[in-house]
Amino acid sequence: MKKDFITIADFTPAELSALLGRAIADKALFAEGKLPASLERKTLAMIFEKPSLRTRVSFEAAMTHLGGHAISLTQADIGLGTREPVQDVARVLSGMCDGIIARTFSHELVQQLGQLGSVPVVNALTDYSHPCQVMADLMTVTERLGELAGKTLVFVGDGNNVARSLAVACAKFEMKFILAAPAGYALSEEFIASLPAGAECSLCSDPIEAVSSADVIYTDTWISMGQEEEKAKRLKDFDGFQINSDLLASAPAEAIVLHCLPAYRGYEISDEA
Ligand code: NVA
Repeated sequence: MKKDFITIADFTPAELSALLGRAIADKALFAEGKLPASLERKTLAMIFEKPSLRTRVSFEAAMTHLGGHAISLTQADIGLGTREPVQDVARVLSGMCDGIIARTFSHELVQQLGQLGSVPVVNALTDYSHPCQVMADLMTVTERLGELAGKTLVFVGDGNNVARSLAVACAKFEMKFILAAPAGYALSEEFIASLPAGAECSLCSDPIEAVSSADVIYTDTWISMGQEEEKAKRLKDFDGFQINSDLLASAPAEAIVLHCLPAYRGYEISDEA
């Protein structure tokens, strides 16, 4: 049976650890020029309703390195759900390609592609989650800090798609997750209740207090793709939640800072941070 990668919640800690282990091992093989061409003659369809730099280029370059090919399809190319019903797109791409990645506004759309397609579907960001980003982040944390279990990740900013995926991943890897967000931008109670049993997830409204116990300090834009009209209000609401040298002075000296990018310098993060 095919397996999709739509949300981290669908995977066991053992499966997720195996995925990180494989990524770290493949990275070393790649550096030695010994990565096998395991996707020779395979084609990946990449659907993008929203802009993408890192996600698109990393998938496309990976397909090249693994001996396969990737096709980038924007909404203007295919009209997913407008020019073509989702089931037709899923059927055509499943017939001609070996995998699909999709970056969409609606999370349900990626779920639908997974249900309707007969090839694996990977979530390349939705309004709800960004699982590939977060697996890559945890790979970085492993490389920099070693064992994930017991570490504390503090997310300063919007309780958005990236924050939700980090919260789920932290629960899976036995890490503590703290979100420091202004009122109205925290994770919902419903979401927190859906986290795996034993999850250590807490909310805080004071970034200084939150970062004091951090191993990893994370931030993301205050204005995600699709929220451009809320910019003025959000900039006001997030005042005081910037990661900068003042805030970092309250964090342990060995804490590392991660940002999924693109970074809006001067807003959620200062240039020096
Ligand atoms: N939260 C951001 C992540 C960008 C990689 C967005 O959805 O626009």
